[in-house]
Amino acid sequence: MKGTIFGLILLLALSAYKFMPEKTVLKEEVMQDKIEKLLSEMTVEEKVGQMTQITMQSISKQPGNLDTVHMIDTAVVREAITKYHIGSFLNVWQMAYSKEHWHDIINLIQDIALNETKVKIPVIYGIDAIHGVTYTLGATLFPQAISMAASRNPELVKKAGEITAIEMRASGIPWNFNPVLGMGREPLWPRFWETFGEDVHLTTVMGRNYVIGQQGDNMGDPDRVATCMKHYLGYSVPKNGQDRTPAWIPERMVRDIFLPPFEEAVNQGCLTVMVNSGEINGIPTHSDSYLLTEVLKKELGFKGFIVSDWEDIERLHTRDMVAATPKEAVKMAVMAGMDMSMVPFDYSFYELLVELVKDGEVPMERIDDAVGRILYVKMKVGLFDNPYPDESMFNKFATKEFTNINKEAAAEVLTLVKNENDLLPLSKDAKVLVTGPNANKLSVLNGGWTITWQGDMEEAYPHEKNTVLEAVQAKIGTDNVIYAANTEDAVKSAGDADVIVACLGEAPYCETPGNINNLALDSKQIELVHKLSGSGKPIVLVMIQGRPRVMNEIVDKSGAILVAMLPGMEGGDAIADVLFGDNNPSGKLPFSYPKYVNGYTTYDYKPIEEFDVNYVTPQWTFGHGLSYTTFKYSDLKLDKSDYSKTDEIKVSVKVKNTGKRAGKEAVEVYLTDLFGTVTRPVKQLKAFDKILLKPGEEKTVYFSLKSDALAFYGRDNKKVIEPGEFKVTVSNLSQSFTVN
Ligand code: BGC
Repeated sequence: MKGTIFGLILLLALSAYKFMPEKTVLKEEVMQDKIEKLLSEMTVEEKVGQMTQITMQSISKQPGNLDTVHMIDTAVVREAITKYHIGSFLNVWQMAYSKEHWHDIINLIQDIALNETKVKIPVIYGIDAIHGVTYTLGATLFPQAISMAASRNPELVKKAGEITAIEMRASGIPWNFNPVLGMGREPLWPRFWETFGEDVHLTTVMGRNYVIGQQGDNMGDPDRVATCMKHYLGYSVPKNGQDRTPAWIPERMVRDIFLPPFEEAVNQGCLTVMVNSGEINGIPTHSDSYLLTEVLKKELGFKGFIVSDWEDIERLHTRDMVAATPKEAVKMAVMAGMDMSMVPFDYSFYELLVELVKDGEVPMERIDDAVGRILYVKMKVGLFDNPYPDESMFNKFATKEFTNINKEAAAEVLTLVKNENDLLPLSKDAKVLVTGPNANKLSVLNGGWTITWQGDMEEAYPHEKNTVLEAVQAKIGTDNVIYAANTEDAVKSAGDADVIVACLGEAPYCETPGNINNLALDSKQIELVHKLSGSGKPIVLVMIQGRPRVMNEIVDKSGAILVAMLPGMEGGDAIADVLFGDNNPSGKLPFSYPKYVNGYTTYDYKPIEEFDVNYVTPQWTFGHGLSYTTFKYSDLKLDKSDYSKTDEIKVSVKVKNTGKRAGKEAVEVYLTDLFGTVTRPVKQLKAFDKILLKPGEEKTVYFSLKSDALAFYGRDNKKVIEPGEFKVTVSNLSQSFTVN
């Protein structure tokens, strides 16, 4: 009897198991049939229109800003969709719109696409919702990626992705040009803060969680959006540090460092990819058929579509000069594997590509492949079923719950890098001088992609949110706070204060306008700290910035330093909470904070780099971050001392809170491959986990390293695990093992 019931359960379980994959396969098959059918009915013009993306500026009558309401030009939209068959639009003109205005825009676009065209294919609208929905007023705006990486909390990244997707859908927009999966290994680069920092594993994990958060398991759900991993590949490491300039990346580095986060996002079903605006090894990426077609589409099996970056196909002719004419540029890009062109101002791409197809210079198979991919994404994201914005989503926008999650995020991203003699936390009875250029602005906490592209329109920010100054005033009372907006006043008031909080760093910027020639912190800010130190009062520095500005000269002048980077809309309160001990900081640097403007070295450098006495030590290394409590690590154990190449390596370590207050600690596992046929990094992060410990509490943390953690690309640029000696390091403990 028992056996029969057991058998029945097994049978049911097996049939359920069988049913699931079949259902998925069937759905994909149905989609493919639908795509085939659509393709067979479409003209060349209709197909090429699907591959064309136009900006909002081109279909508007008037920009929107604080004084004028943005107005769309219906006649131009109609022409774009009915005459040029445009399949996608992007962006805003000037600044964020209300959700209602977004609904009007998208409704108009879909009405025309669905009622006034033969093919009735819904349009896909895309925006840069980089740390929340940049371009919808009142959105929940999270810490930027560089800060999220400091949290070492992938769950937070997933939640931020999920909430951003909901708020995008509440705005009627189903496609996000995010996450940024290039690695921040060149701090001068003005888009450094859009990255998850310098590490391959950290970027891979955070990117994976973002994609899962936004796309979910069932892409058709009305609160999910399609992600766009970008910028493929190597955009983040231009040799001269300036935006959109050449990178030189050998194949081994492409494979070991830059490809893994993209590969993982593909495995998670990321639906679109945007291409690096610059060039690698002399080849503009928009024309690189090796990276686009051979690696991404064929090797990694990417099923979605590839979109160009802004104007970058035309730039193959106008800027890069690899194409003698605009027409050749279009042919080059499309033949390299480009599926959609962010043209974005005119119909040149459309016209030239139609000509190229008619002349037989671009085969129809390539067009069908591109359009098939675009239709696939439109179906996956549910546009064929639900093309219109849904007003019932309005009440899911910027809820109290979302703000609370944003507060949790802001609380976890702040990194305390120096705290001499426990200067922090400050007493709430102290008289505090708050100063520095970043003390009383919301824009500096958010950076670019906030309400506007540059994020610097302070007057458009939601003033119910607190700047650092306002948050400190709210916490300890206005009477206890002296605010000095300039150096002269600050120096005059220093004598009246018990402690000085100087908020330094950068003003907001985005992309090329953020180019700088010198990573050193602005000399006026350095001078401010020098002058304040003359008062003999303890100084706390709060660094609010998109990239780590070199501050070596003033590190010794200050007792405590909090690296906040870009903590988002709740950042002011979160900073005050840390300053006055209402929150225990738990961030860890996701990059090596440089000590000098030259000789920047990431933490995973090569042995030769410390062989010489002149080895360039950073100011603070990757992974550095202090707490108001102390943690003691012990009993680092491996499950074996000899492993085969396919074994998983099980690691455990005990962590105890030996201080007086509760605290979160990110436990990080580093691996060193002691000898290799190509030089190996001195160490590499391979796993991490964040735990909460009460005072006196001890936990054992377990990790499992897959054999892939040992792999790298060898002399022949092939992936290999080499037998030999390895070492695992967690905090100040290490254990060696061998692989046979
Ligand atoms: C940026 C992209 C962005 C696009 C659309 C480009 O200038 O490089 O990251 O997605 O504009 O706004």
